Amino acid sequence: MLATVTAECLSGAGRRGCGRAGTRWARIIFTPPCGSQGRPGAVGWRHARLPIADKDPFPVPATPPPRTPPQRTPPPRTPPKPPRSILITGASSGLGAALARLYAAPGVSLALGGRDVRRLEAVAADCRTHGAEVTTRHLDVLHRVAMADWIAKADALAPLDLVIANAGVGGGTGGAGESAQQTHQIMSVNVTGAVNTVLPAAAAMRTRGHGQLAIVSSLAGFRGFPGAPAYCASKAAVRVWGESLRGHLGRDGLCVSVICPGYVKTRMTANNDFPMPLLMDADRAARRIRRGLARDRPRIAFPRRLYAAVWLLNLLPPSWTDGMLARLPEKPGNG
Ligand SMILES: NC(=O)c1ccc[n+]([C@@H]2O[C@H](COP(=O)([O-])OP(=O)(O)OC[C@H]3O[C@@H](n4cnc5c(N)ncnc54)[C@H](OP(=O)(O)O)[C@@H]3O)[C@@H](O)[C@H]2O)c1
Repeated sequence: MLATVTAECLSGAGRRGCGRAGTRWARIIFTPPCGSQGRPGAVGWRHARLPIADKDPFPVPATPPPRTPPQRTPPPRTPPKPPRSILITGASSGLGAALARLYAAPGVSLALGGRDVRRLEAVAADCRTHGAEVTTRHLDVLHRVAMADWIAKADALAPLDLVIANAGVGGGTGGAGESAQQTHQIMSVNVTGAVNTVLPAAAAMRTRGHGQLAIVSSLAGFRGFPGAPAYCASKAAVRVWGESLRGHLGRDGLCVSVICPGYVKTRMTANNDFPMPLLMDADRAARRIRRGLARDRPRIAFPRRLYAAVWLLNLLPPSWTDGMLARLPEKPGNG
């Protein structure tokens, strides 16, 4: 019988996956010619398995790949060059002063901030004897506008390579417990002060696509200690903020490190009346910090043994450790 035969594929939408391997269902449609036994013009059909050709004669239209938003790939990290222009808050004493003296060298510009004029100028004079160009600004880190103005002017004078948000206050529940005023002060200086430093500095550095930001947190920021609730919370906040910023600002070529020291011999720890394990002096701590920053370490935590202890403490369920921590001595209040 001569017939006009056409075929339509059924394996795509209706019968996907139900054919044997190497075959697929097709509907054969035939139209008998005039004069044959079949009624002229009649149309019939039947199903048949057809072998699949090398090239699929009935291709299933390919679904377009899902649209993904363009990714901002971070540039490869390269360790920062030795900084030539550095701004440090809280440079009038302790860690900040030790860092200023350590970085002071010919060809280095230092912008130092603090509230105590006499102590800040004494540190600046020391740095000048080491050959550094030094400018000072007596200001409170809580003055957002003044901070932005200082940072912009320091950056205009010598584009900032490194900014260290170091200013901070301590205090605990010793004596009459932690007052509302002390809680507010610690939270503001340690958190808002760091924010008032980092944001204007980051804005200036982003336009150049390089620069390094260091945020001083503490090992006390890994677990809440009952003897210093506000201090621990403030240091946890800036630690997590800094760690997040590292990923965020890294896309713009900026380096961000969080510094978590243990006990350091400074004015802040001078009135602690309990044993401070692995207490180190400020100059040694400053060297650890400079080494970590030179290697662009995300987290510069020391001394190692104390870091390991607080890290493990943080892993344990609070219900196991609360009783032990409640017996630790309380940090004196800051008046
Ligand atoms: N010492 C430790 O054991 C230890 C451990 C971990 C982390 N840290 C952190 O290290 C940083 C430095 O502390 P430190 O031990 O060197 O204590 P510090 O000797 O008391 O120095 C604190 C510095 O912060 C400045 N500061 C405080 N409040 C300020 C404000 N409102 N505005 C501007 N500057 C302000 C102080 O300036 P003025 O004196 O001029 O007001 C001083 O220069 C702090 O963030 C602290 O939390 C210290």
